[in-house]
Amino acid sequence: MAPLPDYIEPRWWQGAPAQDPSLFTIDCAGFSMNDADLAPGSELAERMNGTFQRVGLVYLVNTGLRDVQKMRLAAKLVMRNEMRYEAGANPRDTLEPNVYEVGAPLQAHLHYHHEMAYVGTSTTMLGFMAKTAVGMKGATFVSDNLQATDAILATDLGRKLKELGLCYHRDLTDREAFDGSEQIGVYNHWQKSMLTDDPEAALKFAESRGLEVEWGPQRLLKTRFYVSAFEYFEPLDRNLLYSSIADDGMWFDTWPKVMHLPYDQRPLKLTFGDLSEMTREEKALFVDIYDRFGVPIDWRVGDIAIVCNYRWAHGRPGITLQASEKRELGVMLGETFERVGDLPGKW
Ligand SMILES: [Fe+2]
Repeated sequence: MAPLPDYIEPRWWQGAPAQDPSLFTIDCAGFSMNDADLAPGSELAERMNGTFQRVGLVYLVNTGLRDVQKMRLAAKLVMRNEMRYEAGANPRDTLEPNVYEVGAPLQAHLHYHHEMAYVGTSTTMLGFMAKTAVGMKGATFVSDNLQATDAILATDLGRKLKELGLCYHRDLTDREAFDGSEQIGVYNHWQKSMLTDDPEAALKFAESRGLEVEWGPQRLLKTRFYVSAFEYFEPLDRNLLYSSIADDGMWFDTWPKVMHLPYDQRPLKLTFGDLSEMTREEKALFVDIYDRFGVPIDWRVGDIAIVCNYRWAHGRPGITLQASEKRELGVMLGETFERVGDLPGKW
């Protein structure tokens, strides 16, 4: 199967990092990374928190760590409160206790996005830990969202997003309708998402989370969520871009078993808040805005990154591994917050 002929391929960065990596990289070779270093209040903790406050990004290299639970302790020096998965989000499979999998096929590119922008309860930050790695080939990219926000607001697309907001359309399939047929990973069953087998309870729960809902054929649960394309970020006292085309059918452009499907058969769709469609030009610009400010994080085993979900978007190109190669990233999600959208006068 091949992608649709005119799909939009991100280029991730301009070939040079949009911010100097020395601003957010901490070389841990000078630390023993023992229990004392991994305890709150340590010199390492101070440096990590100072860096995170300044840049919204901390990248630990040369940690010497191989144990993912030790890496998690290091990440927790910044991420004090981890998120607990509740109904309404997409529960993820775990790599280890409290460490999630990326939940997407390696060969698919993952457009830049802010984690959980499509629900009313989002997360403040996320952590990545390299259990196995293939260097630059398996790089994650982060995009400087302060620059991306300024850039998009200078365009007609940005002004339109500001004025109209967005509508996230998601189709949740019925587990029973899929019974016996091959599970295709992108189709999320409402039973799993809403943590109930009762359609009434699922409906009520979705409505309680601010979703508009209706049933489609084969008990397809169709949800709509209206929200700003931006989110107010208190520490900088300004609205920041908080959306991307990762929540459109485009997310699946290079996913096995889905990439050949027309957009109206994919489970995600993003429109403006008045339900008008985005043009291909607008979508291409939305991709380009993030690509302009990209920075690669090229993993080696033991590397850890903590990423502020307001100040940075994240994504990665698709890759194909050789038989001898492995790339496994553990994911941690930080404290949740209720989205407020943009605030007036904070542009
Ligand atoms: Fe993500």
